[in-house]
Amino acid sequence: MIEATPPADALAAAERHLDSLRRNHTIDMTRGKPAPEQLDLSDELLANMSPGACVGEGGDYRNYGLGTGIPEAKRLMGAYLEMPPEHTIVAGNSSLTLMHDTLVGAVLAGVPGGAGPWGRDGAGVKFICPAPGYDRHFAICAKLGIEMLPVDMHADGPDMDAVEKLAGDDPSVKGMWCVPKYSNPTGAVYADAVVERLANMSCAAPDFRIMWDDAYAVHHLSDERPIVKHIFKACTAAGNGDRPYLFASTSKITYAGAGLAALAASPDNIADIARKMSFATIGPDKITQLRHVKFLGGMDGLAAHMEKHAALIRPKFAAAHGVLQARLGGTGMATWTAPKGGYFISADLEDGNAAAVVRLTGEAGVALVPAGSTFPYGRDPRDRNVRIAPTMPSVEEVTQAMEVFCACVQVVSLRRRVAAQC
Ligand SMILES: Cc1ncc(COP(=O)(O)O)c(C=O)c1O
Repeated sequence: MIEATPPADALAAAERHLDSLRRNHTIDMTRGKPAPEQLDLSDELLANMSPGACVGEGGDYRNYGLGTGIPEAKRLMGAYLEMPPEHTIVAGNSSLTLMHDTLVGAVLAGVPGGAGPWGRDGAGVKFICPAPGYDRHFAICAKLGIEMLPVDMHADGPDMDAVEKLAGDDPSVKGMWCVPKYSNPTGAVYADAVVERLANMSCAAPDFRIMWDDAYAVHHLSDERPIVKHIFKACTAAGNGDRPYLFASTSKITYAGAGLAALAASPDNIADIARKMSFATIGPDKITQLRHVKFLGGMDGLAAHMEKHAALIRPKFAAAHGVLQARLGGTGMATWTAPKGGYFISADLEDGNAAAVVRLTGEAGVALVPAGSTFPYGRDPRDRNVRIAPTMPSVEEVTQAMEVFCACVQVVSLRRRVAAQC
């Protein structure tokens, strides 16, 4: 329809349409937060502890001790990460904190297999950053002065030719970020061949580390259950068992920010991390750990619980996709992902349009994460990627927000076409 109309007329119509959609109250689509109804699913957590119920296998959990977590929670999170409990640390409430602290420890003190602190003598440390990726991963690197090397993210994982070249050539390339299943923001699922290449590639740095952030391992939206090849097993088979650190949390399983975070790795890595952690804490919140184990049980209970999440958020993704298809399908103005799980839709607009669309969308009452956030240093070289987070608003709000977004995409695209004609 838009193609058949002269661009100037189509633009005027699109501007009028956008005006009719403008909102007084902002809908927040910036972050991948669970909706209140999702949090309600875990309210039993608030009722399942009482005086006398705080004793577990490791003793009285009201007291200090068990610095790397209670045995019951190590079994639960070890099962999530498919790692032995004794190679699993269950710590505080945030996997991001664990990732941050792991890298701080590497910069200040080094890691097993290395020659000392990564930051020694101010030598430049570099990290491979598949992009689009998770902005907070990139923020950790920026904060620690780690130079970020973007590589393209494909539907089956990062561009492995680029990764192998960067890791193989330069000893100051010390590691990389990976979100292997339902990646933030594209929903990519790593293929077996990608995992094999990550495990087997030769790295110039002997202490190269993969930050394997398995945040969305059980966060399915469809009946498909993709299985990602196990990174630790693959690395161990390749003789590189110290290469991966595996991270997860219950932030999008129970309460966001009031759950469990876990790190699993080789025995040497775990001993190193546990020693570093022992300076910072005399033990985690073991009461929260115990109440999570009581609530979730094991992996079967956790999987059943995740079905309830999926039932709540699937309609929101469907609503978002419905509007995208109805308004932008076939226009050439955008493409978008249809993830089988996770928390995000990733849209690629025409080159050069993302910042303008996010700005216009904000002015019209829909807050999106700033354009560029999904790239290192906040710089999207093609200024085209926008991350859409549909979980927090209601289905009705998601529909309204996507109508605004699509109208903005049309206006910005048509403005450019009109300008090109002048
Ligand atoms: C890939 C990824 N990792 C980690 C987190 C944050 O996890 P946590 O709440 O455990 O710090 C998020 C949150 O959006 C995420 O998308």
